[in-house]
Amino acid sequence: MSPASLFPDDFLWGVATSAYQIEGSPLADGAGPSIWHRFSHTPGATHNGDTGDVACDHYRRWREDIALMRELGIGAYRFSLAWGRLFPAGRGSVNSAGRDFYSRLIDLLLESGIRPMVTLYHWDLPAALDDQGGWVNRDSIDWFADYAETAFRAYGDRVPLWATFNEPWVVSDAGYLRGYHAPGHRSAAEAVLVAHHLLCAHASAVRRFRSLGHGTIGLVVNLEPKHPATDDPRDRAAAARADAYMNRLYLDPIFLGRYPPELANIFGAAWPDHAPADLALILEPIDFLGVNYYSRGVTRDDPGDLPVRAARVIREGVPRTDIGWEVHPDGLRETLVWVKERYGDVPIYVTENGAAYDDPPPVADGVVEDPLRADYLRRHLEAAAAAIAQGVDLRGYFAWSLLDNFEWQYGYSKRFGLVRVDFDSQRRTLKRSALFYGDVVRSRGAAALGGPARP
Ligand code: FCB
Repeated sequence: MSPASLFPDDFLWGVATSAYQIEGSPLADGAGPSIWHRFSHTPGATHNGDTGDVACDHYRRWREDIALMRELGIGAYRFSLAWGRLFPAGRGSVNSAGRDFYSRLIDLLLESGIRPMVTLYHWDLPAALDDQGGWVNRDSIDWFADYAETAFRAYGDRVPLWATFNEPWVVSDAGYLRGYHAPGHRSAAEAVLVAHHLLCAHASAVRRFRSLGHGTIGLVVNLEPKHPATDDPRDRAAAARADAYMNRLYLDPIFLGRYPPELANIFGAAWPDHAPADLALILEPIDFLGVNYYSRGVTRDDPGDLPVRAARVIREGVPRTDIGWEVHPDGLRETLVWVKERYGDVPIYVTENGAAYDDPPPVADGVVEDPLRADYLRRHLEAAAAAIAQGVDLRGYFAWSLLDNFEWQYGYSKRFGLVRVDFDSQRRTLKRSALFYGDVVRSRGAAALGGPARP
């Protein structure tokens, strides 16, 4: 069997984006502000004071962006809905202009032969809900389920793939424990409460989805193997704690019905009691798991890094991307196999994978030469194929990202796109990696694996 034939014929070859990172026009047509709108307008919160006010202007250029995907032969597009476009205050009556924006987007994707995967929450909580406590407030479970149900009713007949949350660990960790993402809180007690509410909100939305009966639904987590920096038992223990906190905090409750036992020790007095009824709710089965993979975490014991006491080690002389993340393709294979071994044969999509590099500007009317990004993609696709060879039920792969975009606290300083965006002119230019990925898609994987192209 040639390696390329490892990718099943119906494997989805996609690209991914998220609303706040690309859309711009955050308050257009009656939309309400999100916590990221508020946060990015807070002095000192983002690199250079960058905001998503304009971003890639996708809210107005979406047709052009779909045409780009079509040109590359992309088969699936993962994007997120801005909750505040549908519900400006987070709940109440629907803003039909916002709802219709995504409806038109979905229609044109389908007409273009591109399958939509819709993420309901990619970090942009309506600010009005944050004013009521945001995810710390237990009512957020119902706020989210109501919003999700509206989206299912509006688009469910046309959307085959739904994800409730993108990277809930980043929401609770960066947003509520460490404070470098919106809403910028720093509280261990809040972070663990938020994690629990996100899990209940996820499961409640899945239940609503089941009662409507369309398509498939899952959630998207970011995972990375935690490798101890040395053989010292303290570093090994630190890596195990980091693994419990990042990789198992969300997945153990969803698949096993309990939180990792280490977390009660890690969080001490901040760790809450969880109602058995909540844990039963969270076990609600999902149809697939989305895995975002970028890097591994080389980890050492660090008593000062509370509450987990585990720090990431930046190793010199190891290839890293422009955002500092170590390039470690085999970690993708390791992660996917780990999911299968720990949680069973759940269908998986790699819902994000990609690299930030400081690309050179395009040569006159030519492509942007980004050999490192193309190489990053190729090596990770090889790792994905290796995971399939080990029996992982991998159904698709989404490159992050279609476009250079607003990279959260880094603003526009980190470029992840297959397509370059000139943020002054909004001109889009294909990078070499986009052409490479187009070849991969058209050859159904062969171009990534050096095998013969398939007809
Ligand atoms: C992931 C996010 C995505 C993007 C990439 C680089 O954590 O889901 O929005 O920022 O990292």
